[in-house]
Amino acid sequence: MSHPTLIVRRMRPEDLDEVMEIERRSFSSPWTRDMYRRELERPEGCYLVARCGEELAGYAGALLIFDEAHVMTLAVREDLRRRGIGARLLLELIRNVESMGARFLTLEVRKSNLPAIELYTRFGFQVMGERKHYYLDNLENALIMWTENITDPAYRIRLEELLSRYGGGGRG
Ligand SMILES: CC(C)(COP(=O)(O)OP(=O)(O)OC[C@H]1O[C@@H](n2cnc3c(N)ncnc32)[C@H](O)[C@@H]1OP(=O)(O)O)[C@@H](O)C(=O)NCCC(=O)NCCS
Repeated sequence: MSHPTLIVRRMRPEDLDEVMEIERRSFSSPWTRDMYRRELERPEGCYLVARCGEELAGYAGALLIFDEAHVMTLAVREDLRRRGIGARLLLELIRNVESMGARFLTLEVRKSNLPAIELYTRFGFQVMGERKHYYLDNLENALIMWTENITDPAYRIRLEELLSRYGGGGRG
């Protein structure tokens, strides 16, 4: 699904009021505003927001460590989910981190978070391990997921297919 009115761009400090609103509703252990502020100052960070007109629809972020992009956050406003916005954000995140030098993406996800796991699987992430009791609020295990090399031709084809499905214009 493509969103002609959806703009994806770099996150700025003035987005943080709305980011915090979605953050608190989306995660049982939300990050604080200060944590986001610090993340935005890191040159190896890539934090994006998706805006629908005046409204913040969601955000995503990653940190680049050598040629690995670690996906740090991804959330879409509850009433705007299942419209392709999470996919669009992930697509733009991959394009951005690739231009920063990333070749692989990795992340941790709660084992029970089926919507996110489904989304990541669609993007070619595969479960490569599990961290026991990783989440301190309920001691849930984390799945560790990795992509293949995102510059490989097979991944390019996947990305093109995702692009035609979920749209996406310029970089953030
Ligand atoms: C995970 C999350 C970001 C997905 O955002 P979204 O905008 O709803 O996702 P999309 O509409 O782009 O979905 C893209 C694909 O992901 C999968 N997916 C997304 N939500 C799903 C769900 N509830 N059940 C099953 N599959 C789902 C589907 O394959 C979907 O494709 P389709 O709708 O074309 O079938 C959103 O559910 C969210 O904000 N969750 C809370 C925060 C969170 O858990 N973040 C991840 C931390 S690791």
